[in-house]
Amino acid sequence: MPRRPVAGHSTPRVAQTVSDQRLKIVAAPLGTWEFLAAPDKASQNPSMIDLRAVDRGAVHATFTEAFADYAMTSAGLTEERLLLRMEKNAIAYDVSVGAYDDGRMVGFTLIGVDSWGGAVTAYDAGTGIVPAFRGQGLARRMFDRALPALRDRGVERFSLEVLQQNQPAIRAYKKSGFEITRELRSYVADAAILSPSATSAASTWDVRPIDARTFAPVAQDADWLPSFENRFSAVKRIPNDVILTGVFDGGRCVGVAAYSPPLR
Ligand SMILES: CC(C)(COP(=O)(O)OP(=O)(O)OC[C@H]1O[C@@H](n2cnc3c(N)ncnc32)[C@H](O)[C@@H]1OP(=O)(O)O)[C@@H](O)C(=O)NCCC(=O)NCCS
Repeated sequence: MPRRPVAGHSTPRVAQTVSDQRLKIVAAPLGTWEFLAAPDKASQNPSMIDLRAVDRGAVHATFTEAFADYAMTSAGLTEERLLLRMEKNAIAYDVSVGAYDDGRMVGFTLIGVDSWGGAVTAYDAGTGIVPAFRGQGLARRMFDRALPALRDRGVERFSLEVLQQNQPAIRAYKKSGFEITRELRSYVADAAILSPSATSAASTWDVRPIDARTFAPVAQDADWLPSFENRFSAVKRIPNDVILTGVFDGGRCVGVAAYSPPLR
């Protein structure tokens, strides 16, 4: 997030090999959520419970099953990596919800709560229903279940990100009162083909590792709002799993980058 262009960005050399997956940010101000508190007229099965006492291994198993046919592969998402991502996203297990059928978790919504963009915000870091239980309105029932606990925590809005091609998810979220608020681009490239550009090699800018104390003030100065998932304060939640880099103009840090290898 440099505050002015930084020489030596290597993007142009790999642009043709970088794929661009657009994400939509969907948010619901809690004020528009009143209807969610209405009694659910659908079947009460599966039953809903919060996840505070639920074994994290069970959450990982259901996550893996529910996301097996997802557009982005979750192969390699070990339980450890899932837990790290939940830690980064400030997951509150007491407001997160599991849907249970005959003792088996068949769905979940993992909800983080943190300050974001100046408001206490809930963030849906992952909602999934195993295939046999989709199309029954379970996603909405889980949000219904979470709502009172979110209000008790002072949450002012609820945000999430969704791939634009994930129409079932967009339909489920819209039915639950979420609205599209902005569009993000998410880039991915094969690291093997990345290499420093010629302009980078010739640059006089000093690029070096920094610590969180150097990172924070430059990040706070940014004139744009990263998504909840990439909010600057997330760095503090997983300090041992983030690499921080700064760009220096003379002695002054003018740009920072944060990268978490385990979370890619
Ligand atoms: C997205 C997801 C959580 C929706 O949960 P859900 O409880 O099935 O939601 P709904 O019952 O409201 O159905 C939503 C839409 O799914 C589609 N759908 C209906 N039956 C379905 C089935 N058997 N299988 C797949 N999709 C189905 C329909 O388009 C439906 O919209 P409609 O009711 O307006 O026709 C669920 O499909 C899922 O777990 N998908 C895989 C993981 C995922 O994509 N998570 C979201 C990441 S952002």
